[in-house]
Amino acid sequence: MIVAAGRGERAGSHADGPKQYRRIGGRPVIAHTLDLFIGWPEARHIVVVIHPDDEALFAAARAEALSADGRLTVVHGGATRQQSVLAGLEALSGKEISHVLIQDAVRPFVEPAILERTLIAFQHGARAVLPAVAVADTLKRADANGNVAETVSRSGLFAAQTPQSFHFETILEAHRRAAASGRTDFTDDASIAEWAGVRVHLVEGGAGNVKLTLQKDIAMADQRLSHGLP
Ligand code: C5P
Repeated sequence: MIVAAGRGERAGSHADGPKQYRRIGGRPVIAHTLDLFIGWPEARHIVVVIHPDDEALFAAARAEALSADGRLTVVHGGATRQQSVLAGLEALSGKEISHVLIQDAVRPFVEPAILERTLIAFQHGARAVLPAVAVADTLKRADANGNVAETVSRSGLFAAQTPQSFHFETILEAHRRAAASGRTDFTDDASIAEWAGVRVHLVEGGAGNVKLTLQKDIAMADQRLSHGLP
């Protein structure tokens, strides 16, 4: 599942639309993300969750991606990422899916090695798998005045990436329960699994698997692709 229904407001407004449709290396961000999953033979179904206003933008971007040979379904998302993911899960229910990988459209550099580590974790019985990288920077908690209140130990701390991957029925059930509880503010799917009591297994993420959030992230991604950098 590729979630792409956000408005991308932190990247500022742009004629090309939200950040997942901005061009990097000559193509929309989402076309790069799509290609990785379309080209992965393990992906039996690909659901893309888009904003209802982005139908034309998505159709144009899809034309710049590989052919999905009938494996692709498009559904409309909701006001929060959590609601968008649930819409995608509901669209997949009934398709006899065993596992689902949930990917931010705005992470176009996910490495195949992360997908392979995820599959291995599933083979070892994991029901929820999260790629993450150990935090390298020293962390500070700020006070209300913008001064350092304390230094936070980074020991055991990881930054979460996507795709976050799950046994399908487990995450569908957890998402339905989370929605029924009235909570709509989970910012990733691993947190919903944790909330539902599902153990989340960490696998090594990738330093390059960055999320394009701000305008400068998009500019750097464009540079990276235009200069053929890994
Ligand atoms: O806003 P944020 O950067 O956390 O979004 C992460 C991903 O979730 C993006 O690919 C965005 O398009 C998607 N999203 C969504 N529906 C929303 C909000 C975000 O599909 N309502």
